Amino acid sequence: MSTTFPAGFLFGTATASYQIEGGVHEDGRGPSIWDTFSHTPGKVAHGDTGDVACDHYHRLDDDLDLMASLGVDAYRFSIAWPRIQPTGRGAANRAGLDFYERLVDGLLGRGIRPVATLYHWDLPQPLQDAGGWAQRDTAYALADYAAIVGDALGDRVAEWTTLNEPWCSAFLGYGSGVHAPGVTDPVSALCAAHHLNLAHGLALQALRARVRDDARFSVALNLHVVRPDRPDDAGDVDAARQIDAVGNRVFTGPMLEGGYPDDLLADTAAVTDWAFVHDGDLADIHQPLETIGINYYSTSRVRRWDGTGSNNHSAGHNASTASPWPGADTVQFLPQPGPHTEMGWNIDPSGLYELLMRMHREHPQQSLLVTENGAAFADAVTDADGSPAVHDADRVDYLRRHLTVVAQAIADGADVRGYFAWSLLDNFEWAYGYEKRFGLVRVDFDTLERTPKDSARWYAGLARTHELDA
Ligand code: FCB
Repeated sequence: MSTTFPAGFLFGTATASYQIEGGVHEDGRGPSIWDTFSHTPGKVAHGDTGDVACDHYHRLDDDLDLMASLGVDAYRFSIAWPRIQPTGRGAANRAGLDFYERLVDGLLGRGIRPVATLYHWDLPQPLQDAGGWAQRDTAYALADYAAIVGDALGDRVAEWTTLNEPWCSAFLGYGSGVHAPGVTDPVSALCAAHHLNLAHGLALQALRARVRDDARFSVALNLHVVRPDRPDDAGDVDAARQIDAVGNRVFTGPMLEGGYPDDLLADTAAVTDWAFVHDGDLADIHQPLETIGINYYSTSRVRRWDGTGSNNHSAGHNASTASPWPGADTVQFLPQPGPHTEMGWNIDPSGLYELLMRMHREHPQQSLLVTENGAAFADAVTDADGSPAVHDADRVDYLRRHLTVVAQAIADGADVRGYFAWSLLDNFEWAYGYEKRFGLVRVDFDTLERTPKDSARWYAGLARTHELDA
């Protein structure tokens, strides 16, 4: 059986600046919170840092040729704020802009559509020194940065994403502290979530005023698929509702509906009175948006915690004693049955289908993009007549199964316009360092040699034919 994707459907790959670029001191780039965090002992596995990463900064042309050889339609990348404004404020650094102009021109010259993400977690360190996302000014700073980027690239980039996974920025960065800047404070986490929402709305306004008229805007959310362990148990159902509120609707509420959900405000009332939401903020946040970007990897299962054992609140993320779920201390996360990827994340394509259909139902005016989906596996490198090869049948299977449900969602009416495999390259997987490999293309981190895996060839075939063989 084969499934055909619509003609205009975009098959892309995705990366993020800090995860692949390296060149952290090149051409006037300033430090980001991930430079500081990764250089702090104990924060990242094996003491890995993004100093060199895939050295993409110095290998841009080769990586562009690699993408062209795969024949993908689109490339989702992020712009490193500290290359554009080394301190997070003030005049643009021309050399930083030049890099992204070369990237965009190189993509367009090869017939690949650029999809630019403004912010994928590399906040300039001086802004963190002033409070980071817990500080309101940071939202205005992001809008100033957006204006600079919009002026430079807005004539050529027609697809923009404001933020990548603000949930991770706010709740892993300021709640459980397993991501930079490593703060563990529930009030700061909620405050950061609001300031990220505000940053999204202000940046959207700044970009929209400058870039080409046909540009489309999105935000990439890692929406959580949370299922009650016992669907007929009111406590478990309410636990799932609570995680949906502080994991999903804390962003979709203000961005797409103009307000924070009442149940979220009630659940978190003991943590904060939300006085950091000022008059006018919700109007600034609730801006027209063409697309919801969905980053999807796995599902979660919750119960109302009876207080025994652990509530396992860091399930799916690096272990921390601090919770990434403010106001949800009585929710317990259960281990998920397998199969699992190398991240320990359960493989469940039905969660992606559920999310796409939910967003389609609840927000019919927005089109959808799967802005990330993919899997880390323990790739074995074999020798094929003197050159390395990676036969990653497990990754091909993961991608095929998830793309099958994307096709199903389209058949069932969801307006899904594209899919971006995470990731083009093996790269710096945040607090896990280089140990978890998500790439369609293998990177040898000693020699920096690139080797397309079987999954890359499989994906290239799909991008060419739009036919998915079951
Ligand atoms: C997402 C991030 C991305 C990558 C994948 C595996 O949370 O957006 O940078 O690390 O997970």
